[in-house]
Amino acid sequence: MGSKPYSKLAIAAAYAKYYLRASSKNKELTPTVYNVVDEVLSDARKVKHSDIEAERYRLQKSKQVISFTDYGKSGNIFVKKVADIAKNALKPKKYAQLISKLVAQRGAKTILELGTSLGITTAYLARNKGTEVQTMEGDPTVADIAQHVWNQLGLQNISTTIGNFDVTLDQLEGKTYDVIYIDGNHNLEPTVRYFDVLLKHSNAQTLFIFDDIHYSKGMEEAWEAIKAHSQTTTTIDLFFIGLVYINPSLVKQHFELRY
Ligand SMILES: C[S@@+](CC[C@H](N)C(=O)[O-])C[C@H]1O[C@@H](n2cnc3c(N)ncnc32)[C@H](O)[C@@H]1O
Repeated sequence: MGSKPYSKLAIAAAYAKYYLRASSKNKELTPTVYNVVDEVLSDARKVKHSDIEAERYRLQKSKQVISFTDYGKSGNIFVKKVADIAKNALKPKKYAQLISKLVAQRGAKTILELGTSLGITTAYLARNKGTEVQTMEGDPTVADIAQHVWNQLGLQNISTTIGNFDVTLDQLEGKTYDVIYIDGNHNLEPTVRYFDVLLKHSNAQTLFIFDDIHYSKGMEEAWEAIKAHSQTTTTIDLFFIGLVYINPSLVKQHFELRY
């Protein structure tokens, strides 16, 4: 099911090529993209949440072992160490800071995350003042651990929907979101399908953030399909995440920027 992830070596080679190609200068950027460079990329590392990072560290040292249903790959149940999930499945601090800063720059109030896992990036999203975060996760055990993390951090503006996205996305009803962050089920067909479904839950100002757009051949194809979509206007490829703007007043143009 789905295409195999690229090897670490292949990703490193692709990253090196992206880095040489991608611009770090403000040349020929449209105003939206200029603002991302000027207000987000240069400033994101200033987002500091030492308490969230302390929770990440605690999870990385956890001795807990859980049964985990992997909806994103085989759908099979695996025995997994929480520590391994904390080390391998979560967005690293650098990208959690970036996503948090994008939410702040967008002035987002309503945020949807697909793929909660242990809730670390969710906590970064929820730390932005005045936000309501809805997060979706297939596996109930990791969702419970995430809830404990948010309790520790005193975060009360997060609601979780448990179940396979294929079912739970249909339960969003008429809600719309300012930022939609898709970090689960890294396969071609579902990624493009989720984008189509979630467009119904967006407005012209919604920012879509796709995770791991260069993770596999399938995800690169998904990224190309999303770029080509008739509702997509500007996109920004930051290699480990991709930003998609659907505002029809923006030009359809694709950028690669260094972060
Ligand atoms: C990469 S992790 C999310 C990491 C998290 N956003 C972070 O950075 O802290 C992806 C999560 O998506 C969930 N997931 C993948 N496919 C899913 C599906 N079809 N339905 C529900 N959950 C799914 C997995 O169980 C996993 O916990």
